[in-house]
Amino acid sequence: MRHIIASFILLICAATSYAQGPENVIPVPSDIIITEGTYSFETEPKVSVTFVKKGIAPEGYELTVTPKGVKVKAATEAGAFYARQTLDQMTRDGSVRQIKCCKITDAPRFPYRGLHVDVSRHFRSLDFLTKQVDAMAMFKMNRMHLHLTDAAGWRMQIDAYPRLTSFAAWRPQATWKEWWAGNRHYAEEGTDEANGGYYTKDQMRELVEYAKARHIEIIPEIEMPSHSEEVLAAYPELGCSGEAYKDADFCVGNEAVFEFLETVLAEVMEVFPSEYIHIGGDEAGKQHWKTCEKCQQLMQKEGMKDVDELQSYMIRRIERFVNSKGRRIIGWDEILQGGLAPDATVMSWRGTEGGIEAMTHGHDVIMTPGRYCYLDHTQDAPFLEPESIGGYLPLDSVYVYEPIEASMPADKHHHLLGVQANLWSEYVVTDEHAEYMYWPRAIALAETGWSQPEDKDLKDFRERVLKALEVLKEKGYTTFDLANEYGERKLAQTGLDHKAKGKKVTYIRPIQDWYQAAGEATFTDGVIGGWTYSDNRWQGFLSDIDVVIDLEEVQTVSYIGGTFMQLIGPGVFMPRKVDILVSEDGENYKLVQTVWNDVATSQEELSFKEFHTICNEKARYVRYHAYRSTMRGFLFLDEIVIN
Ligand code: ACM
Repeated sequence: MRHIIASFILLICAATSYAQGPENVIPVPSDIIITEGTYSFETEPKVSVTFVKKGIAPEGYELTVTPKGVKVKAATEAGAFYARQTLDQMTRDGSVRQIKCCKITDAPRFPYRGLHVDVSRHFRSLDFLTKQVDAMAMFKMNRMHLHLTDAAGWRMQIDAYPRLTSFAAWRPQATWKEWWAGNRHYAEEGTDEANGGYYTKDQMRELVEYAKARHIEIIPEIEMPSHSEEVLAAYPELGCSGEAYKDADFCVGNEAVFEFLETVLAEVMEVFPSEYIHIGGDEAGKQHWKTCEKCQQLMQKEGMKDVDELQSYMIRRIERFVNSKGRRIIGWDEILQGGLAPDATVMSWRGTEGGIEAMTHGHDVIMTPGRYCYLDHTQDAPFLEPESIGGYLPLDSVYVYEPIEASMPADKHHHLLGVQANLWSEYVVTDEHAEYMYWPRAIALAETGWSQPEDKDLKDFRERVLKALEVLKEKGYTTFDLANEYGERKLAQTGLDHKAKGKKVTYIRPIQDWYQAAGEATFTDGVIGGWTYSDNRWQGFLSDIDVVIDLEEVQTVSYIGGTFMQLIGPGVFMPRKVDILVSEDGENYKLVQTVWNDVATSQEELSFKEFHTICNEKARYVRYHAYRSTMRGFLFLDEIVIN
């Protein structure tokens, strides 16, 4: 429980008004007691550290400020390090020379507080990585997950397989977007067309040491069985087709694949001493396995009934190898498919269901559900933000995430190791842009990972984080300008009252499975959609939308309209046209207006358009028929407004 007790309110107010206290510390500590007086120092605060055997959690600490100096008690070096981070925040790294006397007792809620860095889609400098380690340390994060391999480029020196870095680490296009739009080929290192890069083992060792000194473990990820186009272009014999640029998945039926993966992992484990090795496991298509002779032979031999079991076979075998080196695997939640490897830790990203299932069976879990933890989504109004993969994830939405859910059995809570913020970097070209996407949203997750839920408070956090961003900016970080946040679509914040609100909607075309929002209430609930179609306010259709609203009595209607969005990346288009019809009896309809689309189907930026009519009609029934785009794809509509 956090409580701040002001002991000598009036008398000491004057004396302490220039002194910093622990009020702004992030993550919010478990317990703060403000005591009498202040501590002033000339250049550096005087700090004495003692290590205790009992009574303090492994990463916890006790920090006491008296007029004479600062005393720290901790059980581990990590605890003492975190006490120092708290003190550095209070003194702004020593630039504030007077601090309030207090006693802070603090310890993390979860042992795993992670940040994910995707260096495949765009290669990042080593300086960038160490700089993010510094920021993580400030906020007591302790795991950096390095996504080292993916189709867009292999990023680590592997001595046994030099083509991974002389070829698969380079591509003709500098940006992922251009590369993806092209033929997705690779380039020879040292040629004019080679863009990208890789880390040498020495560079990775340097990063590991740098992070270790800040009590952060670097967890490398080597993707399998999929997201491996770059490997299979460099070593085509490891794919089912045997040809470059044909496969994304390793051929599980080929023993050479295990020799490759074990050799690579052995070299990786030599460089990274982390307890965990991330082996990917996400989004395997598995298509070629169904017709590949080698895969089919293996399935027969092992009595496997489907390709999910083939994936499971691979992950289990790799787990045995990793375990044999004294390490453990983490995989994305798809590793549940076909049966989970016995000791695997699951990183739950497609929602939390996979994590909950794994926990229930006694596996450790790290939560990183896309809805709260994917920092590749836009953090403010899309028209103000750099291009992103889409979606909308403002700071507040990251902050409100609570990892422990009611459906998690209480006796399994200890399997939830913690949380992680992920930044996939398809659209994040520069190091500065990546920083901008992390900070401040990663700070919100840092607090969720460290602080007790009852101590969290959004309003208070926002005030603290504004100050933390000033410090980060002083230190040279590029951050999002939270002070000038625009926020959610205005009508989405307020809702909208109108004549059709609460009125019954009849669906001539039925609601479909994906994106149902509030079901049949959606179009007349007064709830307006936000910046993203996945906010449960937009109803999605892979067909026309054709509905009738019953206003319950004949009345004069002067406005009928609905807003659609277009985001062509995920295949969301404006309707080709909307027919708006009215009827007094529900049988004889009059076409009031056909509203044609005028947003180009090539327009890439997220856009919204109201398809409406301004009219003067007598109507009880209003039919609103939106025709699916010639591009096909989704139609998304949030509300049909009638006035
Ligand atoms: C993932 O986002 N594919 C793990």
